[in-house]
Amino acid sequence: MVIGVPSEHGQIERRVALTPDAVARLTASGVDVLVQSGAGDAAALPNEAYIEAGASIASDGKALLAGADLLVMVTRPREEEVPALRGGTALVGMLQPLIHGELVERLAAAQVTAFSLDAIPRITRSQSMDTLSSQATVSGYKAVLIAADHLPKFFPMLMTAAGTVAPAKVFVLGAGVAGLQAIATARRLGAVVSAFDTRPVVREQVESLGAAFVELALEVEEGEDARGYARELSEAQYVQQQELVARTVADSDVVITTALIPGRPAPRLVTEEGVAAMRPGSVIVDLAAETGGNCELTEPGKVVVRHGVTIVGTLNLPSTMPLHASQMYARNITNLLALVIKDGRLELDFDDEIIADACITHDGRIVSKLLTGAPA
Ligand code: NAI
Repeated sequence: MVIGVPSEHGQIERRVALTPDAVARLTASGVDVLVQSGAGDAAALPNEAYIEAGASIASDGKALLAGADLLVMVTRPREEEVPALRGGTALVGMLQPLIHGELVERLAAAQVTAFSLDAIPRITRSQSMDTLSSQATVSGYKAVLIAADHLPKFFPMLMTAAGTVAPAKVFVLGAGVAGLQAIATARRLGAVVSAFDTRPVVREQVESLGAAFVELALEVEEGEDARGYARELSEAQYVQQQELVARTVADSDVVITTALIPGRPAPRLVTEEGVAAMRPGSVIVDLAAETGGNCELTEPGKVVVRHGVTIVGTLNLPSTMPLHASQMYARNITNLLALVIKDGRLELDFDDEIIADACITHDGRIVSKLLTGAPA
């Protein structure tokens, strides 16, 4: 079997699906790896590093597709690129099948066996393959650095001959994987950190990182569903939450929002009024910008200043730290490949819930229960 690593969309996506250390592990397990020339350049991983790890280099995308049996990607092919895939090719990437339905149909029609890493169930056994978690870790860390860069203040408390500086106050709204990493990073920089999440189980994790869990008298009966994800609240509950978080938001120098409901637009938690009540120079970094934003004034893909507050809606933060983001992603991919490749061949056991959930198209059909509506 030949595993192919394409170069992904130039400067827009700087990550690469396999790093040289992952290539070395794969070649040692008996598969060949073909890397498109320059695929790792934007992640500071030159062709030579891949060659040293045992990969061959394909001169361009066409040569890669001609030689690869299984393509590994960080993102997904464009719809118009699908006809170039050979029938029977396998594909692993973050396909976001619920959003890219047309692409999924084309992959099925082209007889491609496609796996979507973002469809892997969040169970203990799959943690090492969980790209949502590994990439959210990068986002949470980078969000704090971006906030610190925009803030006209120090994060830590300083006692100097030039006077004493009070520490920055950071509020993290949504304490999942990205939020917890943001809390840890802000604490390392010396800020005073508080956080809130609708899932009550998170309180202990927040407190163990040295942050305060904000008490909100929000009437939520059950914060999470059977899969451990947050439940969507009613419109009235969101209005109540906006009012309740407004005071903490107004008293914060930095607000990092990460609240998401899978498959739904991001909940609006910070209103324009809430922004206007913040001190000038304060910063909001909205990690939910991709799905519309947790702040009413976020403009996805842009950094704007509203009411004197800098609001960062920058997209795809993992791609801004491509070396380690790729390294973690590559580790996730190789762990999935170990599950589906046996003796150099693709072998799929659909009784395994990881494979059943992650496999989106197979044998010319859409097989994902996410899309076919079969019971989970
Ligand atoms: P996510 O990215 O879907 O959401 C981010 C956070 O926003 C979550 O903590 C969620 O509770 C919170 N949120 C949603 N609505 C909110 C609101 N109105 N106000 C405040 N916060 C709100 O979540 P993520 O980080 O992907 O994790 C989701 C769950 O999956 C967690 O329970 C996590 O522990 C679990 N998980 C399990 C893994 C495994 O066992 N393999 C791996 C990673 C996560």
